[in-house]
Amino acid sequence: MKSAGKQTVLLGITGSIAAYKACELVRLYQNAGLNVKVIMTKHAQRLVGAATFRALTGNAVATRLFDDPGNPINHISLAQEADVLVIAPCTANVLNKIAHGVADDLLSTTALATTVPSVLAPAMNAAMLKNPVTQESLRVLEVAGATIVGPGKGYLACGTEDSGRMSSPEEICAATLRVLAQSKSLAGKRVLITAGPTREYLDPVRYISSPSSGKTGFALAHEAAQRGAAVVLISGPTKLLSPLGIEYVPVTTAEQMLEKASEHFDGADIAIFSAAVGDFRPVRRAEQKLKKGEDSSFTFDFSANPDILATLAARRNAARANRPYIVGFAAETEHLLQNAEAKRRAKGADLIIANDVSDPRVGFASDNNRILFVDDAGSEQTELMSKQQLAAIIFDHIQQKL
Ligand code: C5P
Repeated sequence: MKSAGKQTVLLGITGSIAAYKACELVRLYQNAGLNVKVIMTKHAQRLVGAATFRALTGNAVATRLFDDPGNPINHISLAQEADVLVIAPCTANVLNKIAHGVADDLLSTTALATTVPSVLAPAMNAAMLKNPVTQESLRVLEVAGATIVGPGKGYLACGTEDSGRMSSPEEICAATLRVLAQSKSLAGKRVLITAGPTREYLDPVRYISSPSSGKTGFALAHEAAQRGAAVVLISGPTKLLSPLGIEYVPVTTAEQMLEKASEHFDGADIAIFSAAVGDFRPVRRAEQKLKKGEDSSFTFDFSANPDILATLAARRNAARANRPYIVGFAAETEHLLQNAEAKRRAKGADLIIANDVSDPRVGFASDNNRILFVDDAGSEQTELMSKQQLAAIIFDHIQQKL
């Protein structure tokens, strides 16, 4: 159970020489009014004693699975009691383990079991950091919603001046406080998100679709859930796993997506339409697999799919309701601002998030994006960043408008 009053930081300390800096981090958390509980790995205890953290925090230090015979699933209760999990320093070993779901000690098991936001402060040798395996783990963890702080450049314990140095306790504490401040900011709000592509079948095995990966919508769903919202994610087929703690509604066609979105729309406070909905569907779907004929050409008749965003925005606007706040996306190749503003008006949305898909660094299946917010107050351009970082910026922007 979470204790009333102070928020709790669960601080995981791993076997990097930077472990001693965790003492300073504990003090900074306490000065910020937080309760700190510490988990140490076996290797961390060879660098700093558990007794130090016991004395600094006033709480027992957890070191092993099955430590407490009265509470054999300590990792679950530790994970549930915390408001945020911080791992600082986070070694290459622990980072790579948790990115792949390995749970072979108390800290990695807790990291896998927790549903609270996490902040990771990597600390490692430069070669380990540059290793593509570590880079991939950082990407996986960021997509999964972790906040990665640093590492920075500086003097490393191996005697070189390079990247891999743990960020300062001040930076880690500031990032933790930001995550905690956001973590309840959508409590009590309902968020509806459409994501991914839709599929329109021509016959039982062939369909038309788009290469949308669903990454943006899933990152938004994850971010909203981390901020305490009740989230409904309605998605076409993707390879992504549904984020924890949300209501996931899988659909295939545009009509199914409209039906499900319509069910959840009126009760939502925010509705974000990030799906790449197919604009057309075949008038007739063949019952059996189409055969190659003598004739080398085929003809299909298509009819227009409903515009989900425009249909639901028209419903809200006709009812003169001011909820939900409606967000649409616009993928453009030119005249970004003009096209986005025209789309905002035509569809009846409050905010359009536009991006330039002619830029090879961004777009459909990429992990990164750079966006332009267009609403009735004007426009605002972001930097190029990961879709998870953008999800946070998108909610910061939306929440100012609620
Ligand atoms: O018209 P266009 O496809 O460029 O509009 C993009 C925006 O409209 C996106 O937010 C998308 O999710 C939404 N949309 C929709 N239903 C459609 C087509 C687009 O909700 N049939």
